[in-house]
Amino acid sequence: MSTAQQPALTGAEKPWHARYPFLGTGPVGVTEYLSEKAFDEEKDGIFGRYWLLVGHTSQLPDKGDYFEARIDALSASLIVLRDRSGEVRALRNACRHRGSKVISGAGNARFLSCPFHGWTYGLDGSLKGIPDNEQFHDLDPACHGLRTVHCETWNGFVFVNLAGQPDRSLLEQLGGFAEEYARYPFESMVCGGRWSATLDVNWRVFQDQFQEGYHVAVVHTGTFPEVFNGRLNPNSRPSDFTVHGLNRRISFAANPEYVPTPVERLAGQLGSTFGAGARTEGSNPAGIENWAFDVNGVFPNTLLDPANGFFFGHQFWPLSPGRTRWEGFLYVTPAAKPSELISQEQTYILIRDAWREDMELAETIHRSIASGAVGEFHFSDPEIACRHSHYAVNEALGRNG
Ligand code: FES
Ligand SMILES: [Fe+2]
Repeated sequence: MSTAQQPALTGAEKPWHARYPFLGTGPVGVTEYLSEKAFDEEKDGIFGRYWLLVGHTSQLPDKGDYFEARIDALSASLIVLRDRSGEVRALRNACRHRGSKVISGAGNARFLSCPFHGWTYGLDGSLKGIPDNEQFHDLDPACHGLRTVHCETWNGFVFVNLAGQPDRSLLEQLGGFAEEYARYPFESMVCGGRWSATLDVNWRVFQDQFQEGYHVAVVHTGTFPEVFNGRLNPNSRPSDFTVHGLNRRISFAANPEYVPTPVERLAGQLGSTFGAGARTEGSNPAGIENWAFDVNGVFPNTLLDPANGFFFGHQFWPLSPGRTRWEGFLYVTPAAKPSELISQEQTYILIRDAWREDMELAETIHRSIASGAVGEFHFSDPEIACRHSHYAVNEALGRNG
């Protein structure tokens, strides 16, 4: 990628806690990750109140396109669609007759037709047709459309809010993240890969695995050997960390002394992959030397990781205190020439394999806390994003005092 310069580490010992003393330095107890009571609070106080990222506008290129979004913690299924006027909107995916799900998966439709008895709805949710209509008793179709859900978009991402009246706007919730990444082309990137899995691990514990670099030199020797860590930065310390209210950004540099394999060198010459590629507009808001990517913790359950030429990320959808539906994704700049597809494939394979390496550890961690063998986590200074992640949940629930 670049000349051999010292990555833009601060040089200071334990700099991040000095900057954010309210995040504390003590051990973090694990009881909240096991508790049904704590989980109930999170369901109502977080998933029922905050804006949640549910998709990307590229999933809805045409009028009538729709996809199903699930908010498992609340047993909620939603229809996210692009209506006849081109607006993205969200409806409850629950028929007002007897509650059947109306759509599954994704598709395109002029009307939404329930698969149970055929009630039909417009793309605005209004009830348009009832088979054998005259046999119902005092049913006013005007009052029995699919219920609407608050829905807003920002820079290509679709968010919903299940509260009757949201406490804050989407932009207020995104705060400094939206300011820092306003010019990054999230919206024009296209899906380069999607993965999902359901694991026996708490959603907050699993999320922690993807927001620190401390594990990289140990876990990712197969995928990223010295791509980020090396002589200059043996333990992949972050180059920057910033809190934006309930959101956060942690930034990582590439190792300038890394010698790529022949395949990696070729991929880097043809397009963008880890540690190689032309700068993407609006990237690297912290101005990090040898910048590789940022991890943005987008409250409450999303990590968005922009790099040059692509971004990747995760969503953690809790099913119970000890079970999580995980979704991972990669988005890429549309290839301008066929050779760029080689770089994109290289990135896809690396991410896929690295996440396999992470995933093998997740359930062992949860078993250790569930069994009582481990009662607390010890976060070092470079793991401060994990500490903030738990702080943010507790802050949203008024638990921080
Ligand atoms: S439940 Fe939808 S038409 Fe009966
Ligand atoms: Fe990892």
